[in-house]
Amino acid sequence: MSTPVIQTICCIGAGYVGGPTMAVIADHCPGVQVTVVDLNQARIEAWNDPDLSKLPVYEPGLDAVVGRCRGRNLHFTTAVDAAIAAADMVFLSVNTPTKTRGIGAGEASDLRWIEASARQVAALAQGHTIVVEKSTLPVRTAEVIKTILGAAEGETPTGPKTFSVLSNPEFLAEGTAIGDLENPDRVLIGGEDPAAIEALASLYSQWVVPEKILRTNLWSSELSKLTANAFLAQRISSINSIAALCEATEANVAEVARAIGADSRIGTKFLKAGPGFGGSCFQKDILNLVYLCRHYGLEEVAAYWQGVVSLNAWQSHRISALVVRQLFGTVTGKRIAVLGFAFKADTNDTRESPTITICADLLEEGAQLAIYDPKVSAEQIAADLGQPAVVTMDSGEGQWQVASNPLAAATGADAVVVLTEWAEFGQLDWRALAAVMRQPAWLFDARTVCDAAAARAAGLKVWRVGEG
Ligand code: UDX
Ligand code: ADP
Repeated sequence: MSTPVIQTICCIGAGYVGGPTMAVIADHCPGVQVTVVDLNQARIEAWNDPDLSKLPVYEPGLDAVVGRCRGRNLHFTTAVDAAIAAADMVFLSVNTPTKTRGIGAGEASDLRWIEASARQVAALAQGHTIVVEKSTLPVRTAEVIKTILGAAEGETPTGPKTFSVLSNPEFLAEGTAIGDLENPDRVLIGGEDPAAIEALASLYSQWVVPEKILRTNLWSSELSKLTANAFLAQRISSINSIAALCEATEANVAEVARAIGADSRIGTKFLKAGPGFGGSCFQKDILNLVYLCRHYGLEEVAAYWQGVVSLNAWQSHRISALVVRQLFGTVTGKRIAVLGFAFKADTNDTRESPTITICADLLEEGAQLAIYDPKVSAEQIAADLGQPAVVTMDSGEGQWQVASNPLAAATGADAVVVLTEWAEFGQLDWRALAAVMRQPAWLFDARTVCDAAAARAAGLKVWRVGEG
């Protein structure tokens, strides 16, 4: 077995996974030319923007890495075909959202973009090409990719065309992507072709110690990604379920989390109660797992994991309902300041953000929402809420507008609802906010990020998730 030397990489998909991952590979492998391609021209233009604050993905530290490598050995382009033809290794990092119609709607992943990109690779690749699944995929997707690529194998005018398929799921979390990529807990490579596995391992070994590079078969690798996300999401639903019980019993969920987290078998991480998990992965991956289990006739296993998603939705609706209840049972025509729209801090990503559910519930109740988030655009909020912003909020119907800072959001509001744990929300001047709110006024802190004592001292009533 001779390990192929990788000189040219193409990554299909310049999103939250493809962009940062390729930037870090380019940074650590200066001898490898890395080209990230996407059909979305606006996205590619943003990746090429000379102003590094305009990159399409906000991720702390990403601008520095892109600044170092772009134009040297990191390239962003819409010229998909040429980049595939030149590549020794192609990463598939396209979107795989939950299907919205047809068989498996609401649960199964929509594989149309994976199939389309596999077909493109099949048609355009030259010589031997290693194809790497980076997107999170249902178990046995590699079979589909192998079948599509296999049909294109054989003699061509430029020589034989062959493929190897690897699974190399990405475990980075948004907001900490660069740190996660620089110093991963593990790198997972699943495959059948030892030479292809070693070629990919040799890239990572430029900066990852050998003990952290795990090799498995294809199916274990695919399933490990779904399982890791399911276990992480399950911890959040578990702690959120206990938060509700704490509120009913005068226990405090932070204290409970500290007490149980001290047990080394449980551990301290991922025990922060909140408005429910969001992000592009957790719900999608669990629903995928549920669909797979049903497919294999494992109804009880499917129901077990379905419970994690159902509890999550319940938690978000529970918070909007208690806001309405505390505001005398009606929010119609009332101004409510919503602080935070991203699904977590340090990202501009809003996919599956619990804020969307909570805002939609409050708009349905007729609330007038003033929304502030330091990184999310007004266009994105409008797309997520499915209704445009208004200039003046005066109709009594559910309406929203963007506020340029927390004080502007709170002006005239009956409540401030904190839904993302941006660090700046821990520094708010509650005396100043209380002074511009309509009394009696509330702080609903779904992330326990605010200074509750200061808010109470300023005269606000305070609710915090998980505090009885
Ligand atoms: C997740 C996985 O962590 C990552 O390994 C995988 O590759 C992609 O999915 P991500 O969705 O970016 O990453 O963020 P993560 O930090 O896992 O948070 C997910 C959601 O859980 C967020 O809405 C976050 O606010 C919430 N969360 C997380 C909590 O409510 N409490 C916690 O203790 C941790
Ligand atoms: P992720 O969070 O997994 O990175 P994103 O939705 O942010 O997902 O990014 C996936 C990207 O893949 C999108 O920018 C989309 O335009 C791109 N994409 C999907 N299919 C193709 C394709 N066949 N060729 C090139 N780019 C594609």
